Amino acid sequence: MYKSVVRPLLFSLDAETAHKVVLQTGHVAQALGLSGMLRQFSVFEDAKLETELFGLKFKNPIGLAAGLDKNFEALSIWQALGFGFIEAGGVTVHPQKGNPRPRIFRLPQDQAIINRMGFPSEGLEVVVPRATRYHSSYRKPGDLLAINVAKTTKVSMDEAPSDFAQTFEALHEVGDLFIVDVSCPNTGEIAKLQEKNKLKEILLAIKEKNRERKPLLVKLGPDLSPTELGTLIEVCFECELDGIVATNTTSKREGLSSPERLQSQQGGLSGKPLFQRARSVVAQIYAETGGRIPIVAVGGISNCNDVVDMMLAGASLVQIYTALIYEGPLLVQQLKKDLTQFLNTNNLKSVNDLVGNMALKEALRV
Ligand SMILES: Cc1cc2nc3c(=O)[nH]c(=O)nc-3n(C[C@H](O)[C@H](O)[C@H](O)COP(=O)(O)O)c2cc1C
Repeated sequence: MYKSVVRPLLFSLDAETAHKVVLQTGHVAQALGLSGMLRQFSVFEDAKLETELFGLKFKNPIGLAAGLDKNFEALSIWQALGFGFIEAGGVTVHPQKGNPRPRIFRLPQDQAIINRMGFPSEGLEVVVPRATRYHSSYRKPGDLLAINVAKTTKVSMDEAPSDFAQTFEALHEVGDLFIVDVSCPNTGEIAKLQEKNKLKEILLAIKEKNRERKPLLVKLGPDLSPTELGTLIEVCFECELDGIVATNTTSKREGLSSPERLQSQQGGLSGKPLFQRARSVVAQIYAETGGRIPIVAVGGISNCNDVVDMMLAGASLVQIYTALIYEGPLLVQQLKKDLTQFLNTNNLKSVNDLVGNMALKEALRV
């Protein structure tokens, strides 16, 4: 139904218009109270998929990645699709338009997207009341909300730490975990934000506001050299972060078969072609940390093999975004079912048994 009817309709629209249609449909469905009904279609659960991290209980390890719902418009609907956690944002303090349109491009031949959104955000004034309403009216026990915190573009790099901290503080009561995004390739600031001392300043400024000790993670990009990544991992240890999200979109264009006019669009590439790059970042983080910092893997995950592959490389949780666009919302259910079947077939008691499991990796030769 999604691939034969909904996707062709959405793909007949320009990518950002389609995105808006999806968000508005979600928003209306949420207002009509349809998330409860939707949940009945996504009831598949299995105790083997449960995991506990950062002092939180995840019903399953499959999360929604940042960027789909930047302004908290339909959170209960995404949650109702059966995710173990959803990530909203990136949120900035001040409202901002982002880059000029067009700024999202589909690459169907590669099952990929290039976006250069540049953090369009309605800002805290709009997002905080929506987040509070979600928290009080729509959220169900066991639902977990991650919030992606981004830098307001017009704010100088000197003021970046207090800008991030302000967003964190405004939302810290309603989020279960927080992800500091310093790896967006679309604002021209990625190198400065991923610079060791700046990152430390940002993380410490946020930590200072973290009265409730909410789990704090940083989201890194896939285009760092192994040395640069190693340095940032050290910063994460020094700042006693709770976890690392790997990765954001890539500025690289490798192994694409889409026409040149699409490949050459500026922006961050997501979807299938990102998978290997993201996976090797996850593997490096796991190898360097010996599993002491939980990793959330994101980048090109589109089926159960990808989930398993990321977890064997060291991820404790995974997230998806682009695959949802190509495969549709039932993908979440499918991943949970397939993952349970995989665990059963391999006599594993829990999804946790996959994390960094070298012996199984060898046996499966993935
Ligand atoms: C249109 C679009 C907007 C995004 N916006 C954000 C964002 O605001 N913050 C962020 O950390 N990541 C953002 N991302 C990156 C995703 O969260 C994810 O890291 C990336 O798309 C790789 O995962 P995927 O291949 O499953 O899509 C965005 C991605 C897309 C496609």
